[in-house]
Amino acid sequence: MQIGPYKLRNQLVLAPMAGVTDRPFRQLCKKFAAGLAVSEMVSCNSALWGSQQTLRRMDHEGEVEPRTVQIAGADPVLMAQAARFNVERGAQIIDINMGCPAKKVCNVMAGSALLQNEYLVKQILDAVVTAVEVPVTLKIRTGWDPGHRNAHSIARIAEQAGIQALAIHGRTRACAYKGEAEYETIRAVKQETSLPVIANGDITSPEIAKKVMEFTGADAVMIGRAAQGRPWIFREIEHYLATGELLPEPGIEETRTIMIEHLNNLYKFYGEYTGVRVARKHIAWYSKGHHNGAGFRQRVNRVDSIDEQLCMTHAFFDSLSAAQEMAA
Ligand SMILES: Cc1cc2nc3c(=O)[nH]c(=O)nc-3n(C[C@H](O)[C@H](O)[C@H](O)COP(=O)(O)O)c2cc1C
Repeated sequence: MQIGPYKLRNQLVLAPMAGVTDRPFRQLCKKFAAGLAVSEMVSCNSALWGSQQTLRRMDHEGEVEPRTVQIAGADPVLMAQAARFNVERGAQIIDINMGCPAKKVCNVMAGSALLQNEYLVKQILDAVVTAVEVPVTLKIRTGWDPGHRNAHSIARIAEQAGIQALAIHGRTRACAYKGEAEYETIRAVKQETSLPVIANGDITSPEIAKKVMEFTGADAVMIGRAAQGRPWIFREIEHYLATGELLPEPGIEETRTIMIEHLNNLYKFYGEYTGVRVARKHIAWYSKGHHNGAGFRQRVNRVDSIDEQLCMTHAFFDSLSAAQEMAA
């Protein structure tokens, strides 16, 4: 897939997830074949740009290109400023968030709530596209509730504004994360628009990724929650799309290596205090479904130092290895 001047290595995109897709996680997913990894959203409220959280969100050091930053807000002038600010700090693609169901992003109606106001959508897209030289992409839901699926008209507005790719989550805003994502709307939009379309929602396996691509005709698929604790899902999907074969899940020792490297990168990025806390949720995702995972999570959530967190994690994997050897 091509976005402006950037030819992606494949059709696989890591979804932006606030609190998850920080630089260490994006780098990890790109290492495992994600063709594009969108950063956590940066608010258009410039008062927050000096905050440690925002500065971290704008840190792209060492990141594989293209570097995509998502911005969120509802004021066209502020959104244009936010886009320029991020491009000056290294963003190579700006993504606009109109997909987040939170009632308030940036203390104003934003995210997917904007889909109700097509005039404002047009103003925001025009302002941001005009403000920067880099490609601008848009992420939306199918509409604001099942009776108002206006992804078609948003796609037309996006096309006219010069947006270069459109990611669509197959749920409406009112659906939040309930029920199953539907792909009919994505398919219908893809048939009408000339924009590259990225299909998103409930893609949890290589087989589903292939089915969704075939059904919708989308140019790419975007994966969010299924990459939590399973960054190798991109490698699995890439391999399956190329060969039709399913790769085996990583074994215990490979999982340990991936996880320990991920934790060390979190400590380096955030420092000990925040790094240990951010690492807890990743540890929980990696250990889900493993023998004695629940007990391990309870214990590891109580420790505050890097040494203890790493030591417990190694002990957990040692016990998994030992159990596997016994069973063999
Ligand atoms: C923890 C979390 C944080 C999210 N944050 C954002 C965000 O900042 N911007 C955005 O556009 N979507 C956000 N989303 C939505 C995802 O990008 C994606 O559209 C949604 O999870 C559906 O894809 P999935 O079924 O593959 O998870 C978030 C989702 C989750 C689970």
